[in-house]
Amino acid sequence: MDIVAQLEVRSKGVNEAIKSYLEDGENQKLLLAVQHYPSAGGKRLRPVLAEVVAQAIGGAGEKAIPFAAAIELIHNFTLVHDDVMDNDDMRRGRPSVHVLFDEPTAIIAGDALFARAFEALSETDVPSESTRRLLKLTAHAVWLIAEGQQEDMDFERIPHTKLSIGDYERMIWKKTAVLFECAAEGGAIIAKGTEEQISAMRDYARNLGAGFQIYDDILSLLGDEKLTGKPVGNDIRNGKRTLIVLHALKELESDDPGRKILLSALGNADATPDQLTEAVQVLKDCGSIDFAREKARRHAIQGKKCLEILEPSEEKDFLVAAIDYAVDRNV
Ligand code: IPE
Ligand code: IPE
Ligand code: MG
Ligand code: MG
Repeated sequence: MDIVAQLEVRSKGVNEAIKSYLEDGENQKLLLAVQHYPSAGGKRLRPVLAEVVAQAIGGAGEKAIPFAAAIELIHNFTLVHDDVMDNDDMRRGRPSVHVLFDEPTAIIAGDALFARAFEALSETDVPSESTRRLLKLTAHAVWLIAEGQQEDMDFERIPHTKLSIGDYERMIWKKTAVLFECAAEGGAIIAKGTEEQISAMRDYARNLGAGFQIYDDILSLLGDEKLTGKPVGNDIRNGKRTLIVLHALKELESDDPGRKILLSALGNADATPDQLTEAVQVLKDCGSIDFAREKARRHAIQGKKCLEILEPSEEKDFLVAAIDYAVDRNV
């Protein structure tokens, strides 16, 4: 299945909705800032997931559009703030919001996107008890994302010896997988799925999200900026405690020259491109990239098991292809 083409076709409705939520406002600068990432595209994986899950359970995809738009608006809000936190100057092939405008505008634009997300959410055409459930689910997801993002930043300053792979897994569950879970669970709620179906879709999306973030950490080292549209190498400069780095620092003995090379670049804001290239070579040589790739693949296998509850359909095939794509992509 050509997943990229599928995402493009299946995101048409939600793209229209997102546009309509970002048209009105009195402050031109703020409007341009909130539109900056949404209008640049992105894969739209989360909103399409919400729609496809709704369809796979037997509901109408269109019914999930306002909710799907809310999820993508929240995603965009977190990206605007994430680029400030990570000091990344490029996103979706464009200058980041805080670079094109300024940091105060990026903070306000993130908040404004978050506000419009809840306007979108309120327009979901479902019984009132489902509306309440979606509201609580989504608000709680954003709380968990905040915790995950806080941990991601805190981990940069915590000695790697004090961090386990379990700490990393919990952090990425919160910062990334939770929003995928919310999208899939919400789609299932909108389609009036059974509790068993709702829970299976959430577990599928948890695995998709975890595999997606592990693979994103690989792309942050080995990806092509022209394709990903975001800077390569900054995770090392920022000292991010990715699965790859944690694995390498466990593997490399204290007298291994590779350890010195890696530690001289990790968390060094002034690391040169040559230092980064050498550090990435160390990560490759000690098997940490392959280790992460394999972990991501295992999440895809786990996630696919959760789909057994669904009847055969094109949408089920899409969900299988989507999780394979999450852990093997170049964008
Ligand atoms: C980027 O998400 C943030 C992460 C959780 C890694 P995406 O890779 O889905 O970004 P877009 O929406 O396609 O730009
Ligand atoms: C993405 O984290 C998580 C959120 C934005 C909530 P990253 O910082 O790892 O993602 P990219 O690489 O900047 O997209
Ligand atoms: Mg980032
Ligand atoms: Mg980040």
